[in-house]
Amino acid sequence: MYTASPDRYDRPEGFYRRCGKSGIMLPAISLGLWKNFGHEADFKESLDMLHYAFDNGIVHFDLANNYGTPYGSAEENFGRALQESLGKYRDELFISTKAGYDMWPGVYGNWGSRKYLISSLDQSLHRMRLDYVDLFYSHRYDPNTPLDETLQALVDIVRSGKALYVGISRWPHEAFRYALDYLDARNVPCLTYQGRINMLDHAPIEEGILQTCIDRGVGFVSFSPLAQGLLTERYLSGIPEDSRMRNSINLKESVLTPEMLRHLLTLNEEACSKGMKLSQMALKWVLEQQGVTSVIVGVSRLSQLKENLEWIVG
Ligand SMILES: NC(=O)c1ccc[n+]([C@@H]2O[C@H](COP(=O)([O-])OP(=O)(O)OC[C@H]3O[C@@H](n4cnc5c(N)ncnc54)[C@H](OP(=O)(O)O)[C@@H]3O)[C@@H](O)[C@H]2O)c1
Repeated sequence: MYTASPDRYDRPEGFYRRCGKSGIMLPAISLGLWKNFGHEADFKESLDMLHYAFDNGIVHFDLANNYGTPYGSAEENFGRALQESLGKYRDELFISTKAGYDMWPGVYGNWGSRKYLISSLDQSLHRMRLDYVDLFYSHRYDPNTPLDETLQALVDIVRSGKALYVGISRWPHEAFRYALDYLDARNVPCLTYQGRINMLDHAPIEEGILQTCIDRGVGFVSFSPLAQGLLTERYLSGIPEDSRMRNSINLKESVLTPEMLRHLLTLNEEACSKGMKLSQMALKWVLEQQGVTSVIVGVSRLSQLKENLEWIVG
């Protein structure tokens, strides 16, 4: 029988950060369930990581319809965790999900139509055994669906009570600005932009998206802050058999060029000279970018989650 740590909110000052100009605070470190939380994982280990996260002040859990293998299984397992233990803390949790990538066969299970977004959220709620999510994202920009159709679906989702807030993920800058105007005009302001900022890739900074978030009072939530594991000690002396690079198409071995390895070794030396792990320095770097509200880390084991948290919570 799980009981959350009574000390879970004894966090250092600044651990909870205001999300843009909203009433929502998010933890500096959030947990993403893209990999290692679906049916491909050991449920007990997933549950241990979820409990450890919550016991240490992580209240934001990021999902999407197609997370886990098979698709949907991360939401299913998260629903099971809610039912078995975490559900009694529902009002302390900030749960996000998304739709935008391929989820089910046919022409209605992908991209940005009203039909897809609304039916996908219904499925997500069913899998997670929830009445509502805190945050629902359009997961990607759809060049073939009118933006108004996607955005009106987001507005109607909030009005239906199935999501409290909406967010935009990976949309190009101009479309994102259009979305902000559309949503503001309907009193359903965009809560967050979810994009990738890390020490190896800062496109949302260069493209001005982060500045727009600051200017418009929108939170920025950064995914893959460790560049899927590159910005850790994982690949400094070869490619481990149990690593994402070995086992997933999402992190290609071709990324680990001799130049990249040299760069990572230099960053690692810099981290060591500061008394930190490379992963910790990388997370700190993202969180220091003005306008970033939270980083969503992924982990494949509890020890990684501990390492990613201990530098900030002590
Ligand atoms: N909006 C979007 O389109 C989008 C896209 C991608 C991700 N996301 C969200 O962002 C979350 C995080 O993405 P991500 O998993 O790519 O994040 P990440 O934190 O950059 O990478 C996670 C991977 O890094 C390795 N790792 C983490 N901590 C480590 C440590 N202390 N030491 C050694 N290795 C460590 C693990 O790899 P191994 O598995 O090899 O151990 C882990 O699976 C996702 O779960 C999802 O919620 C959103």
